Amino acid sequence: MHAMPTRLHTLFNLPDEGLPLVFLAPMAGYTNAPMRHISRHHGAALTYTEMTCDRGLLNASEKTWYLLETIKDEGPVVAHLYGSNPDSLAEAAAKVEATGRFVAIDLNAGCPVHKITACGAGAALIKNPQLIHDILKAMKSAVKQLPITLKTRLGPAPDKIAVFEILAAAESAGAGALAVHGRFTSQGHGGPVDLPLLAAVKERAKIPIIGNGGICSKHCAWTMLHETHVDALMIARAAIGNPWIFDDIRTTLQTGVEPPPFKPTGLRPQRDLDEIQRVLNEHLDLNLHFLNMLKEKYGVPRDDTAVQENLSAAFRCHLFRYLHGLKGSSYIRGRLFELQTLPAIREAVSSCLEREAGWRASRRV
Ligand SMILES: Cc1cc2nc3c(=O)[nH]c(=O)nc-3n(C[C@H](O)[C@H](O)[C@H](O)COP(=O)(O)O)c2cc1C
Repeated sequence: MHAMPTRLHTLFNLPDEGLPLVFLAPMAGYTNAPMRHISRHHGAALTYTEMTCDRGLLNASEKTWYLLETIKDEGPVVAHLYGSNPDSLAEAAAKVEATGRFVAIDLNAGCPVHKITACGAGAALIKNPQLIHDILKAMKSAVKQLPITLKTRLGPAPDKIAVFEILAAAESAGAGALAVHGRFTSQGHGGPVDLPLLAAVKERAKIPIIGNGGICSKHCAWTMLHETHVDALMIARAAIGNPWIFDDIRTTLQTGVEPPPFKPTGLRPQRDLDEIQRVLNEHLDLNLHFLNMLKEKYGVPRDDTAVQENLSAAFRCHLFRYLHGLKGSSYIRGRLFELQTLPAIREAVSSCLEREAGWRASRRV
């Protein structure tokens, strides 16, 4: 099914590697250029920026434009915007296209956070497919050639399915693809993903459908792909501190053999400790490089001390996911406030990995 180039390959201009398409989902506070770079180099065919406000872009707010900064060798990236006004989103889309950094521009119609929905954006749009249509149409007319796509949910609540009307709105507005998080707004990010409904969306769609929600293992990926036949899979939380998930999933799906069921122990597959250290250090270095780039370009962070502070604060959430389940990780948690500089983080990582190595060695004898 996935050995042939799909319409998504053409839409996003992706090379055909004969492997299923697995994307990194947009995540505010996480999917900055370094995380996208790491994900890309572990098999994500496409990545999304953090959620970016249309009005912030139009007001030339530096904090907003930061979110759309890219670094070298990131691979194809989609700019992910939110807003609720067709005119301002159209104007913002034209500005985003002019940067020349992206392969598509995506509209957020799924974020349930109050700050976003209170402005009529994110998941608030799910209740108004006509407005989704008008926004997508305005964005499409404003750009010269980039595809416009949409990311949404199944509906506000299980008794209010809206995804079919949203699909029709997206198609008639000329959207290139639809990413569907297979949960309802009322579920937030938890609870079951409705695969039969996702399959029905795929069945009805004339545009490619990207399936998202609850993919945390090779088996989850296999199940979504085989039960829904979506054109690509999109992973969010399971990729934090775990970039290996992309290649794991792609190569497993390529074999055509169903992987063993996922045991929900909360633990990830045991990785080689040198590999964890190597990738974690690479991710840290990329963050440092990225922040220094922002310092040069915008003057914020203002100096090297601010760069280190910013780095240690922003990297903590990644750090714990990289070290998740390892013996020394609770020790690091206890020393959280000592981790204010890059050398302190590196030192803490080494001591955690040493503890885990000692424990693994003791299990072998
Ligand atoms: C911390 C965090 C930030 C997120 N930010 C966004 C966002 O900016 N835009 C968006 O469309 N979805 C956002 N999401 C939702 C994810 O893209 C995804 O739809 C959801 O987490 C389900 O996928 P998963 O089960 O693989 O995590 C976010 C999720 C998390 C956990």
